[in-house]
Amino acid sequence: MLAGQHIILGVTGGIAVYKAVELCRLFVKAGAQVRVVMTEAAKQFVTPLTFQTISKQPVYDRLFIGSERFSVEHVGLAQEADLFVIAPATANTLGKIANGIADNLLTTTLMAAKCPILLAPAMNTNMYENPLQQANLKKLAAVGYHFVGPEQGELACGDQGRGRMSEPQAIFTAACQLLLADPFWQGKHVLVTAGPTREAIDPIRFLTNRSSGKMGYAVAEVAALLGADVTLISGPVDLMPPPGVKTIMVTTAQEMYDAVTAHFPAVDVVVKAAAVADYRPLRQCKQKIKKGNELNLVLVQNPDILAELGRQKQQQILVGFAAETDNLRENAEKKLIQKKLDLIVANNVLQEGAGFAADTNIIQIFYRNGEEKQFPKMTKHQVAREVLNAVKELKNNPVS
Ligand code: CTP
Repeated sequence: MLAGQHIILGVTGGIAVYKAVELCRLFVKAGAQVRVVMTEAAKQFVTPLTFQTISKQPVYDRLFIGSERFSVEHVGLAQEADLFVIAPATANTLGKIANGIADNLLTTTLMAAKCPILLAPAMNTNMYENPLQQANLKKLAAVGYHFVGPEQGELACGDQGRGRMSEPQAIFTAACQLLLADPFWQGKHVLVTAGPTREAIDPIRFLTNRSSGKMGYAVAEVAALLGADVTLISGPVDLMPPPGVKTIMVTTAQEMYDAVTAHFPAVDVVVKAAAVADYRPLRQCKQKIKKGNELNLVLVQNPDILAELGRQKQQQILVGFAAETDNLRENAEKKLIQKKLDLIVANNVLQEGAGFAADTNIIQIFYRNGEEKQFPKMTKHQVAREVLNAVKELKNNPVS
């Protein structure tokens, strides 16, 4: 998701440094190149070796050493960065920055930076509430510095109150929002469906399928990071709701149909990644079915949600998914036309790395004008990005 992005992670001296290690790992895992700059105080909590190992880059900690890579280290580092994050940002460092003091590599590099700056404060509540500290924070916000946290909770000193550094995942999300925000997606409402549906046979058993929901959740998460207003309608899955996404849980295809059609008039884009059960038992037994002789289940068809959206469609872009085991192109193109979709994302679930529970997918995108695009194996977050890029291209250059 962050491939090609250069992040400077500034680490100052507070107990929350241990959480900055996890933050560094999240950035690296998402594909970013991370350069860690530590203050002397930060090194009292965690050694540079830890960050060096996680970031796979040397750690920067001293102002006056030569470097093979950068002629003037702080300027070179700052020029390369797409985002500067300081986590934890102590009261001392925030005070220095707010007052234009640059007396170590971190504060000097920050002063030379022109990229967005994200600060994750961490300090004792009394320090946080100190009027001088509050004035510093206001000053920094006024010149465009971004903040995440601090949170309420138990502090290292045993006090309760505001001052805890935000969790690494929350800082990661805030950083992704700054890096990925795309004006195209601001104010756009995206509706995503994900996961399987469950169709009850009796109070104990149900019919369902192997969908994990990972693909739809990735689309919802990435769309929110790009700046869209996202509603996710999800069948039963074992996943956490993506940050910043309005998530509505449903169980059956009929419930998904009701929720999706209720939201449809107000949305700009629908991405239907859910694996909706095509059939449900005609009758749901009120009591547990006891074993005996032969059991015949009579199944009736569920409504086709996407086909209904195709019928109601006004200005919305409709994206379908087709998980197939054979005749990929033929099946995908048939669904594209029959359901009046703008594009369809097809994958062969029998291919290694493209199945339901996998974290990766191998997709092809088919368009109404007969065009198609093939992609290599990617993470589901990368796939989500490609699908949303395809929607953006289509909105900018509509095809008949
Ligand atoms: N879909 C839907 N409602 C249904 C069935 C499918 O909205 N009752 C949507 C899925 O979310 C997906 C697309 O239609 O975006 C294609 O789903 P898929 O299960 O591959 O195709 P079906 O139309 O159900 O056809 P078949 O099962 O025969 O392949």
